[in-house]
Amino acid sequence: MTSASPPRVRLDPTQRALLKTLADRQFHSSTELAAALGLSRTGIWKAIHALGDAGVAVAAIPGKGYRLGAPVELLDETAIRASMSREGLALLQRLDLLDSIDSTNAYLLRAAAAGSVSGHVCLAEAQTAGRGRLGRQWLSPLGANLYLSILWQFDDVSALGGLSLAVGAALAALLESTTGLVVALKWPNDLLWQDRKLGGILLEINGETHGRYNLVIGIGLNRFLPAESSTAIGQPVTDLHQALGESAPRRNALAGSVIDAVLQVCRDFPATGLSAYLETWRRYHGLAGRQVAFQHGHEEWTGRIVDIDDHGRILIGRSDGSVGAFASGEVQLRRVDGMSG
Ligand code: BTN
Repeated sequence: MTSASPPRVRLDPTQRALLKTLADRQFHSSTELAAALGLSRTGIWKAIHALGDAGVAVAAIPGKGYRLGAPVELLDETAIRASMSREGLALLQRLDLLDSIDSTNAYLLRAAAAGSVSGHVCLAEAQTAGRGRLGRQWLSPLGANLYLSILWQFDDVSALGGLSLAVGAALAALLESTTGLVVALKWPNDLLWQDRKLGGILLEINGETHGRYNLVIGIGLNRFLPAESSTAIGQPVTDLHQALGESAPRRNALAGSVIDAVLQVCRDFPATGLSAYLETWRRYHGLAGRQVAFQHGHEEWTGRIVDIDDHGRILIGRSDGSVGAFASGEVQLRRVDGMSG
């Protein structure tokens, strides 16, 4: 980034070395770790606690030692680039890998304000103030999931309404082609598996510079959610590890293929619009025909999801037989089906 200096927290070298050693998910005694890292056993204990504070669960079993509660694969630029196509690499202008940041979206919005351009991508191991849709928080424990944002500049924002659906469709197709996992899209762009949230997309715009609008596309994809985070989120969530077990894609490979796919959507969307992605979106539409609660402004009612129209608006049938088309609002499974959306 050029001149903005965002607040960020760094994993200190000891925590990073400790994570690397524990990444094999075997037990390591504090004596062994102390010798390997050149620390006292108290130093190891402190570093383990600091990792815990950063969201990494480390199990301590008397007589056995320490072991990571969940697999951690630290972000690695070479591995990310290795899973990108030549086309995708040509669109990638800059790749920032951060240990911890308030929000990768906020980071790129600041970068845009400081003059950064299309193709600037950022990923973080953890976010301290991850942002979700509708002002919600996106819990972002360290090392477990994907927190990724892409900056792209568009001339015309009026056409961007469908972009978030296009990105959702591209990610659903990518997950099926790379892992075989068939996810369901919940309008506008939630990725669900078995009615549980697997990922979400947040588009944010930062004004206009020289007639171009800076758009940041933020993607959160759960790869391995620690049990404590799942409980804290307060809605049914899932992760790729639950869906795919040990064949869940590696974190860096997944990051590379997501960046690749989304950069290509950004490049193509001004020419194609949503129409090029409608068929794909509908193929993965998980809630067609389902009875849902729909919140629009201060109004809320139940209705049956019909489809999306060609502008990407959700079509909801009311009990009186009328069908409404909505460009904004929130579909909720909770009150109707006994689960939250
Ligand atoms: C949603 O609520 O469904 C959207 C969630 C988007 C979360 C991602 S994580 C990376 C990027 N940075 C953020 O602060 N939010 C998005």
